[in-house]
Amino acid sequence: MRRLPVVITVLLTVGLAYYVYIPMPDGIQEPWKLMMLDAGFRTAMHLASLKAWLGYDHYINSVRQSTEGLDGMLEGLGSSESGGEVLPGVKVSDITFAGVPVRVYEPPAGGEGHLRRGLMYLHGGGWALGSTKKGAYDTINRMLSDELNTVVVSVEYRLYPEVHFPVPYLDCLNAAKHFLSPEVLARYAIDPERVAVAGDSAGGNLAAAVSQEISTDDTIEVKFSVQALIYPVVQALDFNTPSYLQNQYIPILYRSLMVHFWLQYLSIDPVLQPQFMANNHSSLDQTNITPELRARVDWTVLLPPKHKKNYKPVIVDKGLQGVAKEVPGLLDVRASPLLAGPEVLAKSPRTYMLTCEYDVLRDDGLMYARRLQDAGITVTIDHYEHGFHGCFSFITWPMDFEVGKQALRGYLNWLQNNL
Ligand SMILES: *[C@@H]1O[C@H](CO)[C@@H](O)[C@H](O)[C@H]1NC(C)=O
Repeated sequence: MRRLPVVITVLLTVGLAYYVYIPMPDGIQEPWKLMMLDAGFRTAMHLASLKAWLGYDHYINSVRQSTEGLDGMLEGLGSSESGGEVLPGVKVSDITFAGVPVRVYEPPAGGEGHLRRGLMYLHGGGWALGSTKKGAYDTINRMLSDELNTVVVSVEYRLYPEVHFPVPYLDCLNAAKHFLSPEVLARYAIDPERVAVAGDSAGGNLAAAVSQEISTDDTIEVKFSVQALIYPVVQALDFNTPSYLQNQYIPILYRSLMVHFWLQYLSIDPVLQPQFMANNHSSLDQTNITPELRARVDWTVLLPPKHKKNYKPVIVDKGLQGVAKEVPGLLDVRASPLLAGPEVLAKSPRTYMLTCEYDVLRDDGLMYARRLQDAGITVTIDHYEHGFHGCFSFITWPMDFEVGKQALRGYLNWLQNNL
């Protein structure tokens, strides 16, 4: 049967195309690149589940290994092409701040008598993945340090499954307090009036939460002067916002994956995922979620009509009995900074907010921006109509996206002019 190889090839090709292809809205540019990226992530997840099921390793460790392997491979491919990663002028040191590992980037210029800017960076990855040292985070922070003549401190906070909330938050807070101490700022020749905190995704969550604590703690003398939040996660009460629904199947952050990250972070049994996705955890019979708290995450009031579209709020009368009481982190502002009161938000620094249209977290960011504005804070919202979650980290060949490079440029420009 000479036809057999042909048949097998055709079947494999069709199978592969079926595996890789996902329908994409027209607004997504470079859709095939995004599909390939997503197929890579999905494969890493499947292999990790398989290894965990066979009892080899915790699945998060396998996902980390394969995404880092992918990263390394992409970097290897990219470095000969772009050659832009190596900035010999920037001094990089891996040290600790108050016992927390950090990577510090010092720009070549300044130091003697000339004060520089400072920035603390908190990377994303669902409180479970990512590292200061890997991939785009290292590239971006080096670039920022060099171009903006800024001392960057990137925090290697601990991750799930080793730790849960509030440990990652406390690691970041402790590192931030150390960084903002007059002695440390003086040691790095940083102007105390020009220190930023920034982060993306879960790192944006940590940045917003740490920023609230620093700005309201009267014992801390030096405050952050600006915060830059890149598609941050800021609430866990409503997983049916218009953006969660509109973008639930858009790579690379599916709605179910984001809910999963939250359950891991707050030590909630993963079997409850369907209940959380149905908003059963924030049903009206959860009496400790007061009307006041509900109003702070009410997208029907906080979002502009353009983003509300025709979506209807998902409000359950009777849900998962008592869950809001059993999971203390659910209503904790250190996990959900959107739940903070106006008096806390009013003390926030000037804010840069980056949101993407094709992102389940779009409305988290827009609602937080709106509540900061209502509290009197100046907020710049950079909304990317073609953006998808994670695009800010996809800037190096071959996984570079035009919208990612634009987003990075927008962030650097804003800091250049406002920090
Ligand atoms: C949500 O709670 C209701 C009970 O009020 C239940 O009937 C429903 O099955 C729950 N939804 C899910 C997805 O578990």
